[in-house]
Amino acid sequence: MFGWCGVEVRSRPEVAAGPRACGGRMDFSTIAGMAGGHAEARAIQIALKLGIFERLGARPLEASELASAIGTESRATAILANAMVAIGLLQKIDGRYHLEQSAQRFLVEASPEYLGGMILFDAELWNAWGRLEDSLRSGAPARTPDMFQSSPAATARFIAAMDSLVRARGDDRWTAEHLDLTGVRTLADVGGGPGTYLVEFLRRYPDLHGALWDLPATLEVARRMLAQRTPALLSRIDLRAVDYLAGELPGPVDAIFMSNIIHSENEPVNEALMAKCFRALAPGGLIAVKDHIMNRDLTEPAAGAVFSLYLLLTTRGRDYSFDETAGWMRAAGFADIRMTTLPSPPFTSSIVSARKP
Ligand SMILES: C[S@@+](CC[C@H](N)C(=O)[O-])C[C@H]1O[C@@H](n2cnc3c(N)ncnc32)[C@H](O)[C@@H]1O
Repeated sequence: MFGWCGVEVRSRPEVAAGPRACGGRMDFSTIAGMAGGHAEARAIQIALKLGIFERLGARPLEASELASAIGTESRATAILANAMVAIGLLQKIDGRYHLEQSAQRFLVEASPEYLGGMILFDAELWNAWGRLEDSLRSGAPARTPDMFQSSPAATARFIAAMDSLVRARGDDRWTAEHLDLTGVRTLADVGGGPGTYLVEFLRRYPDLHGALWDLPATLEVARRMLAQRTPALLSRIDLRAVDYLAGELPGPVDAIFMSNIIHSENEPVNEALMAKCFRALAPGGLIAVKDHIMNRDLTEPAAGAVFSLYLLLTTRGRDYSFDETAGWMRAAGFADIRMTTLPSPPFTSSIVSARKP
């Protein structure tokens, strides 16, 4: 009924990724660059927030023209724009700033690979990173782990971030291409957010019906985004308010997809969630869980180990290993548990799939 198309599938992966990004022998430049990386990060976030890339996408400008277009001070704007040239996002030709190709591709809203949603979300989390030491001392998140449901603006920013990251990197297209859903009639995307993956599944499988199970505030945002971008697919999506922490999941469905969900929750919640998924699936049904799936030491992939700090600040979770994930699946009754790792770079995640006997 389903399987994997053209990728290596491992049932017992020992190592989820290659060697550490820099190995054990970092040179001065690497360690100094990493330790001071907040400067580049913040500069890009603020340049984007101020609309510098949008303005220069329309036409090249001198610093003073750019400053008056975005309402900033001229000398300070030149300093930021020069830094963007140094980073490689702008070019300076005869005193005018132009977009580099990478900025055109990832930092201008009209681009299908726009990463700005994620960058603006990161900008909002700046203060949370400032409280990392507090979280280390207390073990508690730096902000209420409310999944950004506290205000419509916070939810919209969060969901736009998920959408832009997935589309810019192409996780949605890779997953739809490689996860074989032949014979699956109904698929539920649990915590599906903007529905980015669901849209690709529906495009690839014309007879598939999708369900987006998520919290009400997220569904509001998803409905708007889907209506704007892919109105023709809306009739094939059941947008349903579901709190996976409370009660049973609706069902039965033939397949459940869950991306970036388990990393926000703690171990007992994830164990209970796998059992709920098991009960919501029809016999023979597929579960596919996509996330940073870590090695046993929880140190690789490197992106997942570092991302766990973000999860410490904002959720009750962290990134989990294959053994932990498979353990919850096994306890729920799933069989044929496998892991498929997406090619890195650019991807940093894996998919653990299993079948309800
Ligand atoms: C990190 S986002 C992932 C979105 C999407 N799956 C993706 O990978 O792009 C987490 C999603 O889970 C949803 N969510 C969080 N807690 C939930 C809950 N208790 N019940 C249902 N959905 C929840 C959020 O609203 C959000 O859409």
